[in-house]
Amino acid sequence: MKRIAIFASGTGSNARKIVEYFKDHPKIEVSLIVSNNKEAKVLDMAHRHNIPTMILNKALLKDRDYILEKFSIFPIDFIVLAGFLLLVPKYLVDAFPKNIVNIHPALLPKYGGKGMYGMNVHKAVKDSGERETGITIHYVNEHYDEGGIIFQASCPVLPEDSPETIAKNVLKLEHEFFAKTIENVLLD
Ligand code: GRF
Repeated sequence: MKRIAIFASGTGSNARKIVEYFKDHPKIEVSLIVSNNKEAKVLDMAHRHNIPTMILNKALLKDRDYILEKFSIFPIDFIVLAGFLLLVPKYLVDAFPKNIVNIHPALLPKYGGKGMYGMNVHKAVKDSGERETGITIHYVNEHYDEGGIIFQASCPVLPEDSPETIAKNVLKLEHEFFAKTIENVLLD
């Protein structure tokens, strides 16, 4: 079994899709949901599916010995960032080489980096008059949105699309492709 920890800060609709996708999978399971926000909706979803949860604040995430010990107890093989807003510390990147992936709601390297999350991304896409946007699934390194790209999918941006419409179209792509891409990476 490959054991995934999903890190999420908010609603967790991607986390939910991933949990559902791997529910009866013979080789992959979601073993842990990690959040930096104890009010995050993603935690309710985890409880509904009987998946253990872990709340981390910034300081705890920097505590190498604490985190690596916890992850070895579970144990965790692979980390998925699905709307996780804190920077992943270098020790974690080093401890999970090529085993941490993130999803970004734009076509990187455009519209990535610090501050480029949620509606900020879609507003920037709209303001720049882009004709298309999309999703990027990529490996994580110690810089925001800079690890190697694994998969991209795009959708058109029409002149009449609002940032909210763009967000909806992009989320649809995320739900369609994130779990499948994780499966491909893990079973490669
Ligand atoms: C997604 O758009 C993802 O790309 C971004 O944060 C959003 C998370 O949405 N990094 P949800 O919490 O999975 O619904």
